[in-house]
Amino acid sequence: MAMHTSKIASPAKATPPREAGDRQNGDINRETLLEGLNFDLAGEYQAILMYTHYAAKLTGPYRKELRALFQAEIADEQGHAQFLADKIATLGGEPTTQPRSVPTANGPREMLEQALLAEQETIQAYDERIGQAEAFGDIGLKVDLENQIADETRHKEDIERILAGWHR
Ligand SMILES: [Fe+2]
Ligand SMILES: [Fe+2]
Repeated sequence: MAMHTSKIASPAKATPPREAGDRQNGDINRETLLEGLNFDLAGEYQAILMYTHYAAKLTGPYRKELRALFQAEIADEQGHAQFLADKIATLGGEPTTQPRSVPTANGPREMLEQALLAEQETIQAYDERIGQAEAFGDIGLKVDLENQIADETRHKEDIERILAGWHR
């Protein structure tokens, strides 16, 4: 095989292998992104149902405070769900209407524990989605998802603070 000795070290030849590798790792198609966003949307619908259901079933001395907390979160989750549904439709997908199922909880402490788990899972999912949005080249989506992660982190920390001082 003949080699082109004079051109082998040109900068244009030195970079492509790394670029190609990066693209292969990061490349994501629209279908994969839509699938992820629909997973997130199902989670937001679950969160709306979960906080509504738990607010209704709350009993005990902290009912009023916890109900106010849950209802404040419902408003945030509705905003998240609308954003995701809009984005999925804009990208040419079909926004899901199926929530993930709401975990049962006996009493306020279990409700808080289930809500904490759900918030942690949501943060993890958005973390993954942010990487996918960036790989897809949609920096606006990445920033919007970062804002949603900030909301979920606040929800998570509120619940953690309540559970940290909870006496059985
Ligand atoms: Fe949310
Ligand atoms: Fe949340």
